[in-house]
Amino acid sequence: MASAATLPLIQNVGAYESLSLNGAWNYIVDVQEEGYYDYRMNPTRWGFFQNAKPQKPEDLIEYDFDKSPTMQIPGDWNTQDERLFFYEGTVWFKRSLHLPSNIFHQPSSLFLLYFGAVNYDCHVYVNGRHVGHHIGGFTPFNYDVTDLLKEGENVIIVKVDNKRHAEDVPTQIFDWWNYGGITRDVKLVKVPIVYLEDYSVTLSPPESGGVRGGLSKRNISFSARLNKAEAGHTLTVSIPELKLKKTFTTDTNGTIHCSLFTIPSKKLQLWTPENPKCYRVEISLNTSTISDEIGFRTIETRDKQILLNGQPIFLKGISIHNEKPNGGGRANSVEDARTLLSWAKELGCNFVRLAHYPHHEEMVREAEKMGILVWSEIPVYWTIAWKNPKTYENAQNQLRDMIARDHNRANIIIWSIANETPHSAERDQFLGNLAQYARTLDNTRLISMAMEVTGASNYVNRLNDNMNQYVDVVSFNQYIGWYRDVNDAPKMKWEIPYNKPVIVSEFGGGAKYGYHGQKNQRWTEEFQENLYRENCAMLDKIEGLAGTTPWILKDFRSPRRVLPDVQDYYNRKGLFSDKGEKKKAFYVLKNWYETK
Ligand code: GCU
Repeated sequence: MASAATLPLIQNVGAYESLSLNGAWNYIVDVQEEGYYDYRMNPTRWGFFQNAKPQKPEDLIEYDFDKSPTMQIPGDWNTQDERLFFYEGTVWFKRSLHLPSNIFHQPSSLFLLYFGAVNYDCHVYVNGRHVGHHIGGFTPFNYDVTDLLKEGENVIIVKVDNKRHAEDVPTQIFDWWNYGGITRDVKLVKVPIVYLEDYSVTLSPPESGGVRGGLSKRNISFSARLNKAEAGHTLTVSIPELKLKKTFTTDTNGTIHCSLFTIPSKKLQLWTPENPKCYRVEISLNTSTISDEIGFRTIETRDKQILLNGQPIFLKGISIHNEKPNGGGRANSVEDARTLLSWAKELGCNFVRLAHYPHHEEMVREAEKMGILVWSEIPVYWTIAWKNPKTYENAQNQLRDMIARDHNRANIIIWSIANETPHSAERDQFLGNLAQYARTLDNTRLISMAMEVTGASNYVNRLNDNMNQYVDVVSFNQYIGWYRDVNDAPKMKWEIPYNKPVIVSEFGGGAKYGYHGQKNQRWTEEFQENLYRENCAMLDKIEGLAGTTPWILKDFRSPRRVLPDVQDYYNRKGLFSDKGEKKKAFYVLKNWYETK
C-alpha cells in the first residue's frame, strides 16, 4: 500500500502557522477489524478508510462515519465512552476538513499532517489514500500530505489499535492504564517548501570555555538541518534581547554546524530553577522566520555530584504519570500540565521524572517556564523482547523522536532509556546500544535508567548492574516499607560501587485518601506517612545521593490494581489522591525537601 513519506519530526512545530484538527471526530469501534481485513484476514481495498457512501439504492455499505458517535480529540476513548473503559482493540476515527481554494495557490508551501501522539498502532488516510503507519503511543509524527489535499471537503481517517503484544514497546504488561486513541493534538501545518527540519541552540559544555572558575566568555553553538540537502540557503539567527545576530549559508547537505556567538558571561542569564530564564531566539530561513524560547545552561556530573551551571544540585523530585489531574484520562493540555506541576512545586520539587514514556509537549514546556528540571523516559519497561530486532528498532525510534521533540528544552537534563529491566546479555546489548545512540543524538545531557537493587541479603542492598558503564547517573527503584518491611529501613546498608551520582528513582507505598488507622495498618495514610519518614531518613545515609523521584505524585489508573474499596483500578501510591487531595505523607516529603 503506497504511502506518503514518514518525514523526520519537524522541530518546534508550534512556531508554524497551522490549522488545528482538534475537536469532535466520528468514531467506529471495530473489534474484529472488519474495516481493515476481509474474511480471509487479508487487508481489504474496501476498508473503512474509503469512507464510502451508497451511490445507488442497492449499494451495500455497512458502516457510516457520519452517523457514528463522536468523541473529543485529543483524548483517550477509555474515559469518553464507558463501553470502552477496558477496551483494547481497533477504533476508527474520521474528521472532515474543508479547505478554501486559496490554500492551493501557494506554490511555496507544503502541508504537514502532525500528530502529537496516537496510542499505539495507527494507520493514517487522507481522502482514501494511505498516508502512513506509525507505532509507539507517546511520540509525535508527521506526514507531507500536500499532494493529497484538495479544494473543498477533505477526509482524514485514522485506524488506531492499542492491543498489547510481547514484541511491543512497552511490552504486554505495565502498571498504567493502556489509554487508547488520538491522545494529543492533531494539526495541519503549513511550512515553506524548504524548511528547518531541525535546529539546536546550546551553551557549549564547560571544557570549551564553560563556567568553571567564572570564565569571562561563553560560547553558544548552533546547528541546523533543512528538509532538503541543498546548499546556499541563507539563515539568520538572532537573539534580540542580547543584540546578537548572525547569518549563515547552508552546505551541500542543507546543514549548518557552528559556533554562533561568544558572549561575556555577565551578559548571559543562565537557566536555573530559581530563575528559569529563556531568551527569544529568531531563526530566519530565506523569507520565513520562526522563533523559540531557549534557556542556556550546562549539566554535567563530577564524581558523585550533578552540576547545573557548574554548581552541585540536589534533585528534589517526584515521579508523575501523564494522566489528567482529576479523575484519570490522558493529560494533553497546558492546564493539565500546570496543575500537575504546581502540585509538584507545592511539594518543594525542582525536578520531575516523567514516567515511563514521553509526556505531552506542554508538560515539558510548562516545566521549563516553572523552573522544573525534567527526567524524560522511553517505555522500555520490565521484560522487553530483547532479541527481536523490530523491538529494538521501535525502541530506538521512540528514543530518536523523544530527543527530536524536546532537545531544545533547557530543563530536560536526563534521558532515561529503561525502567526495571531484568539482567541478561541480550538486555545489556539492547540497552547499551540505546545509550550510545542517545549520545550520538545529544551529547549535552545525562543518560540514565531506573535500575533495581540486587542481592538485598540481610540489610545490605547492592547495586550491581553492567549498565553502570553506559549511564552518567546510576538510578534505582527500591520499595523498602512496601514490598519489604518498613522496620528494616533503619538497618539498611547500600553498596553502590560506582563513582557516579545516585538518584533513587522510585520509593513509596500506597494509601487510600481518608483511610486512617495505625502506622502498621496497610493502606492507611499513617502507614504511608511512616513509610516516607523511614525512607527519607534511610536515603539520607546513601553516599552520593544526588536526587530522588518518589513514586508518585498522584494516584493513577492501573489495570493491575484490583483491590475493591481501596484500589478500584488505581495505583494508590500517590501523595495526592486521584482527586488532588493531599495525603499525610505529602507533608513528610515536603519537610524533607526543605532540609535539602
Ligand atoms: C515499579 C514500576 C512502576 C510501578 C511501581 C509500583 O517500580 O516502575 O511503574 O507502578 O513499581 O509497583 O507501584
